[in-house]
Amino acid sequence: MKITNQHYRTIWPDPDLPAAVCIIDQRQLPHRFVIERLTDLEQTRIAIKEMHVRGAGLIGATAGFGMFLAAIHASEKNFDQEMEEAGQRLFGSRPTARNLGWAVDRVLEAIRQKQTPVEKRQEAFRVACAIADEDAEFCRRIGLHGLGIIEEIGRKKKGSPVNILTHCNAGWLAFVDFGSATAPIYAARDAGIPVHIWVDETRPWNQGSRLTAWELQQENIPNTLITDNAGGHLMQRGDVDLVIVGTDRTTRTGDVANKIGTYLKALAARDNNIPFYVALPSSTFDWDLECGSDIPIEEREGTEITTATGMTADGRMETVHLAAPGTRAANYSFDVTPARLITGLITERGVVAAEKEAIRKMFPDRC
Ligand code: MRU
Repeated sequence: MKITNQHYRTIWPDPDLPAAVCIIDQRQLPHRFVIERLTDLEQTRIAIKEMHVRGAGLIGATAGFGMFLAAIHASEKNFDQEMEEAGQRLFGSRPTARNLGWAVDRVLEAIRQKQTPVEKRQEAFRVACAIADEDAEFCRRIGLHGLGIIEEIGRKKKGSPVNILTHCNAGWLAFVDFGSATAPIYAARDAGIPVHIWVDETRPWNQGSRLTAWELQQENIPNTLITDNAGGHLMQRGDVDLVIVGTDRTTRTGDVANKIGTYLKALAARDNNIPFYVALPSSTFDWDLECGSDIPIEEREGTEITTATGMTADGRMETVHLAAPGTRAANYSFDVTPARLITGLITERGVVAAEKEAIRKMFPDRC
């Protein structure tokens, strides 16, 4: 997508250095646009863990390139074992997003088929690029499938904007391009359907206020930032036509783990008869899981709640304390929305009911 009219992906091989990968450091957005260079596994692990990159699709793509960087540095003698260990290290960096383990396994499986370290390195690079390209392409297709849902609501609204609420950032910045929840929005804009987006601020990391609002602004999509608790009120007033969110891990039965607070939006949407869709590339399905309560839920440092970081009037990034010293905080990063509250899943293959048999029919080659 575009930043000041220039197209960027969120991750790309460094054109100046063959053994390096470029990312956008999302901790600094929207105040500073900083491109960071990753050259080894440890830098990649830290970039994922400390959320220089975040969002399920981008975490997966970064893990794929991290495995490539690990392959560059792996010794000739112990190549396979070092690659297995590299996979384990990346795997532990964030627990909820399924795409991470999926990407690591995909690279490991591909390099097992090759004989020499030289071939394995080339293969790791090829697969990492394929994961990134596929992520962008699948999100583009999610946009086309989701467009039908917005079109239908748009017809009923006879030219007035379709009001879509989204939570966290399942936009371009959470993937390689387009985003999942935002792809149908961009497709609707391109089709000439007026849309307006309610953006949940998404405490404590503020993916909504810092990333989604900025991203939509860059693409000239009308949007309004709201507090996390405002959604129910807007739904009761008839100001929300549709909810679209992303997911970090989805069970084969259609339960969805997404950013904390998603479940409450789904409950409010159900109470107000508002369609609630989840957009995802199939890399986010966990085909081994039957039940949402088995999804690992990340708990992050309480300091993310007790402090806030932003830019001062004179252009310095500063962290301030919000709570009294010593305040105990529990920072659950994700919650699970049960399939029964979900109107449908928007995937790269089409829109499917959040239900085991329907999902199996759409992805018979996966489960
Ligand atoms: O902690 P994050 O920013 O990595 O979490 C991302 C989310 O939970 C988003 O809501 C998104 O929907 C899932 S990633 C596509």
